[in-house]
Amino acid sequence: MDKEALKKKLFAYIDTLKDKVITVRRDIHQHPELSGQEVRTKSLVKGILEIEGFKITEFEGHNGLVADLVVDEKKPFVAIRADMDALPIEEHTGKPYASEVKGVMHACGHDAHTAIAVGVALAMAQFRDELPGNIRFIFQPAEEINEGGSEELIRDGALENVKAIFGLHVYPYLSTGQIGYKYGVMMASADTFTIEIFGKSAHGARPHEGVDAILTASMCVNSLNHIISRRIDPLHPAVISLGTIEGGTAPNIICDHVKLTGTVRTVNEAVRKKIPLMMEDSVKGITHSMGAKYKFSYEFGQPELINDDAMVDVLVQEATKILGAENVVDLKDPVMGGEDFSRYLQIVPGAFFRLGVCNPQKGTCVSQHNPKFDVDEDALPIGMKVLSAVAIEVMDEK
Ligand code: NI
Repeated sequence: MDKEALKKKLFAYIDTLKDKVITVRRDIHQHPELSGQEVRTKSLVKGILEIEGFKITEFEGHNGLVADLVVDEKKPFVAIRADMDALPIEEHTGKPYASEVKGVMHACGHDAHTAIAVGVALAMAQFRDELPGNIRFIFQPAEEINEGGSEELIRDGALENVKAIFGLHVYPYLSTGQIGYKYGVMMASADTFTIEIFGKSAHGARPHEGVDAILTASMCVNSLNHIISRRIDPLHPAVISLGTIEGGTAPNIICDHVKLTGTVRTVNEAVRKKIPLMMEDSVKGITHSMGAKYKFSYEFGQPELINDDAMVDVLVQEATKILGAENVVDLKDPVMGGEDFSRYLQIVPGAFFRLGVCNPQKGTCVSQHNPKFDVDEDALPIGMKVLSAVAIEVMDEK
């Protein structure tokens, strides 16, 4: 089997699929669905892939969809994953294909990810008789929320008999025509916490008769912000950010209850394990000294996203052939954002990469989660080609 010849045919076919994939992307973009509600998106994908002969699996309790192209029952699968959910943001792009759903928008580009995966699937189906192995497409719901959809799909067997997995994310910090890769840790773990401080209310003029939950909380806020700078090795990036603080009822009443919530990001599992212990220590000491009580809850969310070196080697090699070495960018530093593709990578080797979508003429260099975010659709076939090439390349290797 001449893999290079097959890739060449796939790439030529992908170029002919561009308009179709753009239509799919715009359809999804106009009809965005929030995490856990991806019913229409899933049925759109299903409708396209079913007629191409994919074996479709749907699940109880979530909107995931797995589409398999089996060429040899004895062989394992290479998997490609696309996320499908949108965000609670009102779109302000003014584009003709803008969201038709008020307050909901594909502001992270998951519409593009889904369309790209559909395009790769169509291309693979076209050359099914020549494929050296099996390929599985995992369409994942609920990436944007902490209890992410990857966990449910893994629980339901989406990685069974999968030997390698690849995924991408559109990226407005690279130009269309470029991709970004990273060996090792690419993205941070993303955990959340809630701290409640219980004091005792009193008249604002008689503070000594109460226990001030606001003052206690403010001391906790201060102290939590010293953990990273004083207790964690500066060579191990980590973030503790408090996002909400609620408490109090009137200007002249000593507040008896404050609730704080926030997020913790790390790129090192040992640091990740230590941080909640340090946080609770701080809160415990402060509340004790103030005569208050506390409740600390910490929820471990997505783990760090750690790419497999051998799979990144394949990604770099294939992308270089397609785009030229100057357009295959070493991202060097991890980012502190989370991505639940990390859960797949805990189980099977694989690689996640960034697909450049910035084109100043088209206004597609705006950051994600922004009401003006959009992708340069010229990047769609590029994502399709890179994913196809890496999948073909690892298909029948041991
Ligand atoms: Ni995203």
